[in-house]
Amino acid sequence: MCGIVGYIGSKDCVPLLINSLKRLEYRGYDSAGLGVISNGESQVIKRKGKVSVLEKDLDQITLKQPNLGIAHTRWATHGVPNEVNAHPHFNTDKSLFVIHNGIIENYLTIRKGLQSLGYDFITDTDSEVIPQLIDSFLKKGYALVKAVHLALSKIEGTYGLAIVYANEPDKLIAARKGSPLVIGVGNNENFVASDVSAIIAHTKHVVYLEDGEIAEIYKDKFYTRTLDEEIIDKEVHKITMTLDEIDKGGYDHFMLKEIMEQPLSVCNSMRGRLIADKGTSKLGGLEAVEDKLVQSKRIVLSACGTSWHAALAGEYMLEQHTRIQTEVEYASEFRYRNPIISPDDVMFFISQSGETADTLAALREAKIRGALVLGICNVVGSSIPRETHAGVYTHAGPEIGVASTKAFTSQLVILALITLNLARKRNMSLIDGKNIVKEMDLLPKKIEQILKLNEQIEEIAEEFKDAENFLYLGRGYNFPVALEGALKLKEISYIHAEGYPAAEMKHGPIALIEEKLPSIFIAPQDSTYEKIITNIQEVKARKGRVIAIASESDKNIDSLVDFSIKIPETIRMLMPILSVIPLQLLAYHIAVKKGLNVDQPRNLAKSVTVE
Ligand code: AGP
Ligand code: GLU
Repeated sequence: MCGIVGYIGSKDCVPLLINSLKRLEYRGYDSAGLGVISNGESQVIKRKGKVSVLEKDLDQITLKQPNLGIAHTRWATHGVPNEVNAHPHFNTDKSLFVIHNGIIENYLTIRKGLQSLGYDFITDTDSEVIPQLIDSFLKKGYALVKAVHLALSKIEGTYGLAIVYANEPDKLIAARKGSPLVIGVGNNENFVASDVSAIIAHTKHVVYLEDGEIAEIYKDKFYTRTLDEEIIDKEVHKITMTLDEIDKGGYDHFMLKEIMEQPLSVCNSMRGRLIADKGTSKLGGLEAVEDKLVQSKRIVLSACGTSWHAALAGEYMLEQHTRIQTEVEYASEFRYRNPIISPDDVMFFISQSGETADTLAALREAKIRGALVLGICNVVGSSIPRETHAGVYTHAGPEIGVASTKAFTSQLVILALITLNLARKRNMSLIDGKNIVKEMDLLPKKIEQILKLNEQIEEIAEEFKDAENFLYLGRGYNFPVALEGALKLKEISYIHAEGYPAAEMKHGPIALIEEKLPSIFIAPQDSTYEKIITNIQEVKARKGRVIAIASESDKNIDSLVDFSIKIPETIRMLMPILSVIPLQLLAYHIAVKKGLNVDQPRNLAKSVTVE
C-alpha cells in the first residue's frame, strides 16, 4: 500500500515528485506529503486528502530548486488519516525525513525506549519511530548509512523506506523488507519508487530491490547492500511500459478504460500461446516444470479478492478438464492454519500486482513446505514472479483502477490456457482441444459485442442505483462471477451486495427477497439453465426484481425477468470471461451515478502490501 517516490539529481524536484505522486495515487490516497532538501536546508509539507490538495499548497515550499526529496501517498494502518500522521515523518529538528510503507510491529517498544531518552512523538503512526531511531544513532556520531543499518537491525515488521538527511544532501537511502521498491537509474539523476509507473516518464532503467536490501543512491551512482552491510551487485532491467499505457486515454475513469480494453487485454494474454492445429497451448514460463505439473496429484490455487475469484473459476476448469484434484485457498488464511502441503503438490499464486502481502506470505510458506510454487501475475518484475519457481504473466497491461477488471479476465484466460495444456497432455482429445482453442480465439470479438451493451447497462444502472442491497446469483462456473460482480459493486458504489451459488439462495438469502431487493442472475444457457430458471421463479414469486445475464439466443427469459442483458455464448469453461463484463459495467455506472470516486474508492488501495 501507499506510494513512495524519491529524487536525487539537478532538477527542481518539487513538480517532478508531485507528478510522480499522482501516478501512484491509486496505491493509497488518504493523505500525502513531501519533504525536500536544498543546500543543507529542509522543508516538509503534508496534507490530508488527495495529492491535488497537497499540490494547491506547494507555494509554501520556499527552498530554491531543491534537488533532493521524497514524497508519499498514504494508506493508513496506524493512526487516522490527518495532516500530522501523513508522511514524511521526521526527527525533532526536521533535518531527517522518512517515508514508510508497511507496518513496524515493535513500534511501541521502540517508542517507549526513545521516550525514555527524551524523544517526543507527535503522531499516532508506527512509522514515526523510524526517523527518531535513526536520529538516535546519528546523535551518537554515526553517518547516515550506518545509522540506518543500525536502526533497521532493531526494527521488526515490514517496510519500504525512502530517507533523506539535510546534513548529508548527496544521497537518498532506500530500504526494503516486505514492501516493493525500485531504483530508477537516470542520466545524472536517480529515483526511488514503490512502482515503476511513478518514474517511467523519466527513465526506463530500473533495479528491483529485494527484501533485506538497502540502497545508497547518489545522483550518478548507487550501492546496494544487505542488512549485514555486504555489497551486492544488482542487475539493471529495461522496462517496456509506456506512458500512454498508464494514462486514461480519453476515458473519464481508468476503470472504464480498463473495462473497454478487454478485447485487447484478453487477446494479449493469449498472444502466441494457442496452438490451433494441435488443439493445445504453449506457456513458455511453465515449460521447465511441465512434467511435474502434468503428473501432479493436487493443485492448490491461492490468492486474495478478485484474484481469488479467478482461482475459484480455475478450480472448476482444472477439475472438469484435467481431473486433477484442485483446491482454492484464501492466501490470508493459508499460512495460519498449518496447511497440509506435500512436495507432490503444485501451488499457483494468482495476483494482479504481484505484491499482495497475504499472497506473498502464503507463497513463502508453501515454498518452505516443499511445494512447487508457480505464479500468475500481471505486474512484470513484481515480488511474486520473482519468488516463484516459474510462472506465467497475464500481460493485461497496467491496471490502475482500484477495482480490478481486465486483470481478472486475463487471469481467467491464463487459467484456461493452463487447463488446456494439462488436459491435452493427460486425457483430452484433439477435437476437444481444438474446440477450446477455437472458442478462445473468438473471445475478443465476443467481448467487443458485450461492450456495445454499455448504454443498455447504464440505463439499468439508473433504475437500480438507489437500491441498498443486491444479490448476485450463479451456478457452476458462474458462481465465482456472482462473487466478483458483488465485490465490484461493493468496492466502488458502497452498496451492500452478496454473491451466492444460486441454489444456496433457498437455504437462507431468500429471506431477504422483497420488492426493493434486486437479484442479478447469471443465467446463460448451459447445463444448469433449467435449475437457475427455477431459482428466478422463486425470486419472482416473492416479488423480487430480477436482472438476468442471459444467452443471446434465449428468447424465453425476457418474460420472466425485469431486465435481461444478452451476451454471446461460449463453452462453459470460458463463460466467466464474458459474463463478468456486464457486471463490471453495471458496478461502474452505478458508482458514477452516485457521484462516487470510481478509481479511488474509500478505504481501499490498489495493492495491499500489508497483512
Ligand atoms: C479487486 O477489485 C480488489 N481491489 C482486490 O480484491 C484485489 O483483487 C486483491 O487485493 C488482490 O490483489 P492482487 O491481485 O494484486 O493480488
Ligand atoms: N504504517 C504506516 C502508516 O500507517 C504506513 C502506511 C502506508 O503504507 O501508507 O502511516
